[in-house]
Amino acid sequence: MTEHEHEHETIRVERRGRVAWIQLDRPEALNALNTRLMHELVGTAKGLDADDSIGAIVITGSEKAFAAGADIKEMAGKSTAEMRASNHFGPWLEFASVQKPVIAAVSGYALGGGCELALMCDIILAADTAQFGLPEVGLGVIPGIGGTQRLVRAVGYPKAAEIILTGRRVGAEEAERIGLVSRVVPADALLDEAGKVAEGIAAKSLPALRAAKATMDAALEMPLAEGLAIEAEHFTGLFDTADQKEGMAAFSEKREPNFQHR
Ligand code: CAA
Repeated sequence: MTEHEHEHETIRVERRGRVAWIQLDRPEALNALNTRLMHELVGTAKGLDADDSIGAIVITGSEKAFAAGADIKEMAGKSTAEMRASNHFGPWLEFASVQKPVIAAVSGYALGGGCELALMCDIILAADTAQFGLPEVGLGVIPGIGGTQRLVRAVGYPKAAEIILTGRRVGAEEAERIGLVSRVVPADALLDEAGKVAEGIAAKSLPALRAAKATMDAALEMPLAEGLAIEAEHFTGLFDTADQKEGMAAFSEKREPNFQHR
């Protein structure tokens, strides 16, 4: 851990091998995402993204709350002009542009911005206690950290519309059934399971992981023909990496690959 990583007030950061763990840590506010937390989380994620000794990032909260949303008290008194001038949620775009696999390990409440943070991650592992939801219309606003866009893409318009327009909560089992989360696990197994998934990913070739993520992103952004062209470009581009040579040699030699992540 670098010295810088000790300075945080609202998150805890830990490295275990090639996996970085970021735990949201504002228990007094159920991990509500205030400006400080946003900057600490986004800055840390960007730093870890640039650090080749890390292959995957896990974001987690507490047993009770992954995150109960953006900090309502912080923004309650703001005007439109103030929200616009401060670009209140702008930094989250940088979190969504992290190139390494990010796993959300969600226990308890993932509401509003908490649900949107999970949706920005590549994989969502949910404890059976997890409760998702985008309750913003009940506060006189709408989801503002990508929820309207990413939930529609994740679960399709009719389900997303029902969840966003009613603001109702979605339990873990339903969340898995509709494709909002990758997998549900018993609450007491959540962190172990997230660790296993993250370690498994981090052991793979980092250039391949980055390429896979960039190419999947293209699937959300682009027409099929353009996405296929991007896939072809990334696929062929990997043939100049040491890891492609090692990965394919290891297959032929019936052994595990020893990736150098380049
Ligand atoms: N912002 C600020 N503070 C919050 C918060 C939030 N989103 N969520 C919880 N807190 C605070 C509470 O105010 C409370 O603080 P005090 O003890 O000082 O009163 C503390 O965290 C504990 O919360 P509760 O006492 O409410 O705990 P509970 O167990 O009774 O209820 C809950 C839990 C159902 C999650 C409830 O806290 C809740 O409804 N939270 C708000 C959920 C929400 O509306 N999220 C959307 C936020 S808006 C948003 O996210 C916009 C966007 O798109 C980016």
